[in-house]
Amino acid sequence: MQAAFIDKQGDPSLLQVGALPTPESSNGEVLVRISVSGVNPIDTYIRSGAIPLPIEFPYVPGCDFSGTVESVGSEVKRFRVGDRVWGSNQSLFGRQGTLAEFVAVDEDWVYQTPSGMSDVQAAAGALTGITAHLGLFLHGQLKPGEVVFVNGGTGGVGSMVVQFAKAAQAKVITTAGTDEKRKFASDLGADLVLDYNSETLDAEIQAFCEEHGGIDLWWETQREPTLPRTIGMMKKRGRIILMAGRAAEPQFPLGQFYVNDLRMIGFAMFNASPEEQRQCAEEMNRWFEMGLWKPVIGKTLPLSEAAQAHQLQEENTLGDAHSLTGKIVVEL
Ligand SMILES: NC(=O)c1ccc[n+]([C@@H]2O[C@H](COP(=O)([O-])OP(=O)(O)OC[C@H]3O[C@@H](n4cnc5c(N)ncnc54)[C@H](OP(=O)(O)O)[C@@H]3O)[C@@H](O)[C@H]2O)c1
Repeated sequence: MQAAFIDKQGDPSLLQVGALPTPESSNGEVLVRISVSGVNPIDTYIRSGAIPLPIEFPYVPGCDFSGTVESVGSEVKRFRVGDRVWGSNQSLFGRQGTLAEFVAVDEDWVYQTPSGMSDVQAAAGALTGITAHLGLFLHGQLKPGEVVFVNGGTGGVGSMVVQFAKAAQAKVITTAGTDEKRKFASDLGADLVLDYNSETLDAEIQAFCEEHGGIDLWWETQREPTLPRTIGMMKKRGRIILMAGRAAEPQFPLGQFYVNDLRMIGFAMFNASPEEQRQCAEEMNRWFEMGLWKPVIGKTLPLSEAAQAHQLQEENTLGDAHSLTGKIVVEL
């Protein structure tokens, strides 16, 4: 099969495209003929060596996939040859990645693709959607009518958090860096969209929150959170979701935090069990069919441009490019 892989960790140019042995589906595994692979920041951290996950070379990056079941192992119960499927959580903990024509995946990590969802949409919404769902509901315990603030509402994760919070009947405030992106965030359903560079940003958030007494759930997508500012804007018993910034050591105003019964929740989606992720995936499928969300696709590239896909992700997540709205997907 054709795949994009590295023989050593380093910059995006080390990603080469060539032939690797096609995997086989054993026992509980489904062999998926991949049509689309989604790119996420974690793919670039593993490729570069920025996070110390054990990997074997040649290493194929890529968590997210969509495609068609090519064959099934003898113990597979939920899938048949020809099913359209999607999934995430590959390329981690010794698993093969998805920048390849085929991947053998434990059926625990595979979900049916709804008939109205394209393979591009399925792959684009995979990791970011499961992350948004886990954070809002398993960890954040979001309730209808609560106020959610999403810092960065047009990014991969942020755009899903905005849509899922609206699907759960929350009031959503979000930020973006340009007029075009702010318009886009409004179209996703956000009730109030603000410029994250504005000097009056916090006053505008507080004015919106006046009748609600503050923010119930703050979703921080940035790697350097500003906790004194965040904590000052939270409602009593509010929850702050932190899910980025491995090296960050933010200032933390403890007094204001505990006297307001606040909670701060960190999580990484890959720690969630297959059952927890499946619950997210099944609700995502239902909500998609109800027209409650759609993934935001920023760039589509062929497998031959896998290195450019990683470069673009890195420029936007670690660098200051701001050139992307939503997800990068790679078509096989
Ligand atoms: N813990 C987990 O399970 C998990 C899962 C997925 C991702 N992550 C992490 O979450 C982070 C975001 O991932 P992603 O895929 O959503 O990245 P992304 O698609 O690159 O999105 C980045 C977002 O940040 C916004 N932004 C840039 N500068 C900002 C600022 N000064 N203030 C507010 N927003 C700003 C961008 O908005 P503009 O485009 O308008 O500038 C964009 O919406 C990454 O660090 C990733 O590693 C963690």
